Amino acid sequence: MTERSKQLKPNLYLVGFMGTGKSAVGRSVASRLGFAFIDSDHAIEEADGRSIKEIFDSEGEVAFRKLERKFIDEGHANECCVISCGGGLIAQPGMLKRLRAKGPVVCLLASPETIFERVKGNEKRPLLNVQDPLARIRELLGEREPIYKKAGTEVLTDGRTISDVASHVCRVYRSDARSWK
Ligand code: S3P
Repeated sequence: MTERSKQLKPNLYLVGFMGTGKSAVGRSVASRLGFAFIDSDHAIEEADGRSIKEIFDSEGEVAFRKLERKFIDEGHANECCVISCGGGLIAQPGMLKRLRAKGPVVCLLASPETIFERVKGNEKRPLLNVQDPLARIRELLGEREPIYKKAGTEVLTDGRTISDVASHVCRVYRSDARSWK
């Protein structure tokens, strides 16, 4: 029996752009599955003692990406967790492969307009603190689309409630986790 086949309740990794609902959906999915919920941004902030914005301001994006890698490699348990991953986490080379070795990956999607409506007025996201956030969202989404598209099962979130999306994600997880054994 391989290590992987012994693992009955692999983690679920929720990926996708900012504002696709990863944290809200992830919390709901975790409670339905009886799993722990972890938000990669919060875990990094807790471990580092600074906010994401402070890390970006003082050390820049490259330093933040290193902390994301560290979190994935050694910052969380291997089973029974729903992990909401910061929007750029899988855009780094090699990260998707790492996640997929740890558990099923589900990618939440939304249109640029929906994302803009969800994130506007929130200044905690350094990459969107620009004059034209909608244009920036379109640009970043365009850059990242190829990796989001191959990340895992895609779940559209436009016009759907958190509860509806969470039910959908739970179904995907249960099916993926079965074939995970
Ligand atoms: C980022 C997304 C953010 C956070 C950071 C960078 C990105 O997380 O990690 O601001 O590069 O897309 P959320 O997707 O949870 O907002």
